[in-house]
Amino acid sequence: MLMSQSDQKVIIIDFGSQVTQLIARQIRELGVYCELINYKFFNKLNKFDKSVKGIILSGGPKSTLNKSAPKINISKINQNIPILGICYGHQLISNFFGGKTKFSKKKEFGNATLFEKKKSLLTNGFFKNKINTVWMSHSDSVDIIPRKFKVIASSSNSKFAILEHKERKIYSTQFHPEVFHTNNGKKIFFNFLFKICNVRKNWTDNKKISNIINKIKFSVKNNEKVLCALSGGVDSSVLAHLLFKAIKRNLICVYVDTGLMRMGETEEINRIFKNKFKKSFYIINAKNIFLKKLKNISDPEKKRKIIGNIFIKIFENFTKKNKNIKFLAQGTLYPDLIESKSFSGSPTSIIKSHHNVGGLPKKMKLKLIEPFNEMFKDEVRKIGKSLNVDQYLLNRHPFPGPGLAIRIPGSIDKKKINILQNADKIFIDELKARNIYKNIWQAFAVLLPVKTVGVMGDSRTYDYVCALRAVTSIDGMTADYYNFKHKDISEISNRIINEVNGINRVVYDITSKPPGTIEWE
Ligand code: XMP
Repeated sequence: MLMSQSDQKVIIIDFGSQVTQLIARQIRELGVYCELINYKFFNKLNKFDKSVKGIILSGGPKSTLNKSAPKINISKINQNIPILGICYGHQLISNFFGGKTKFSKKKEFGNATLFEKKKSLLTNGFFKNKINTVWMSHSDSVDIIPRKFKVIASSSNSKFAILEHKERKIYSTQFHPEVFHTNNGKKIFFNFLFKICNVRKNWTDNKKISNIINKIKFSVKNNEKVLCALSGGVDSSVLAHLLFKAIKRNLICVYVDTGLMRMGETEEINRIFKNKFKKSFYIINAKNIFLKKLKNISDPEKKRKIIGNIFIKIFENFTKKNKNIKFLAQGTLYPDLIESKSFSGSPTSIIKSHHNVGGLPKKMKLKLIEPFNEMFKDEVRKIGKSLNVDQYLLNRHPFPGPGLAIRIPGSIDKKKINILQNADKIFIDELKARNIYKNIWQAFAVLLPVKTVGVMGDSRTYDYVCALRAVTSIDGMTADYYNFKHKDISEISNRIINEVNGINRVVYDITSKPPGTIEWE
């Protein structure tokens, strides 16, 4: 967790919602420092320091009526600190102050129309003509509101969708203002921060950078070395630049050629980083070991764990030869964590093990440095921009640590990797040539473990199917498929079928996230 470098902060108490970090993101975007803490940690706290200017209670997957549901003692919060409860937090507040929540098995999920009932500081500028569209995700709802609380807005399914206790400065919403689907959601946070908590905007990219640099300088002592796992993706590239700025003499950057990279990638990374980091940049060729260990492995989670373990073994072997290496620095992002394990110890459900997180062995010999583990990719890109990181590196689409291994469902071999590299190169080259690469958040090809019959010239073919995936997104947490012009997708598909040996059919994936994930495994 980032330590407070600011004289004012907002605390978010996490009850395990998948979107809690979006609250932090909204607040940081508004230029205010915040910390995310687990509700159990809150329960152990005796007092808050003076810099705490507001508290937000997140959503969560449990029912507040469940005996084992996460709870906190709200009266521990100093009377002059404003509180905002969201979804689960809304119901907790209501229960705590004497209201009643009604149990329901039926979920209200998705968009809802909200009607303004009363003016409030919280909703200043939020409604248009007393109406707004918001995003709901709940089953239970508040049935009786506590004394002294007023209803600010209602929807047809949630009579008490926004509540206010004006004197005590407690506000709560049944909907999620932090998600992008809530129209104008940022206004709720803006009003809470600047009109109710009365904080100032003072948390800038430069402050974030100096905060991280100070922490790294503080942790790394004189001769200790930091091994930076550099994949050449946006996150690890920005991280390497940051470490270079903080502790240049202690830095060793290692790029592992897994053989699962995109075509020409290793050569390109070598060219860029050899130039910048000179002798502190190493390339390790580990193609054979990855291929050997992944042979006949089809299960996606097994693949990810194996890859994570090989990475760590390689790094540990490297440290045997370089005795002073004490730290492993990784560009792990918040979404990598939230989908791999419960981040702040809250009951978030697990989606998939990201290789740089879930794959870590229990007994790690190196200490971890992961300064981006509370950030989203676009925040890291902004930091990279402030650090003058090469535009080519900053604007690249994300590429997962396990590489092409998770874009070949089923077992992997050299031949399949080569087919996929060729198809992917054509796809990406075409997006760039058509000037649409920059409109897409992430695009790639997937080689399916299915062969189908085709006809080319006068001959029958029996080859693999290639799926193309292109999505738009803000942070990778949710995504929509990219709506190609018919001509573009059909010409790209033709090129792949005509030029890539081993593929005779192309399909386009039109699944959004959720319900799909961006990668296929
Ligand atoms: P999903 O597939 O979970 O992916 O919707 C969200 C974003 O994360 C990337 N991704 C990974 N990145 N290690 C990484 O560094 C991983 O193991 C990993 N798995 C997925 C994915 O490419 C997308 O941008």
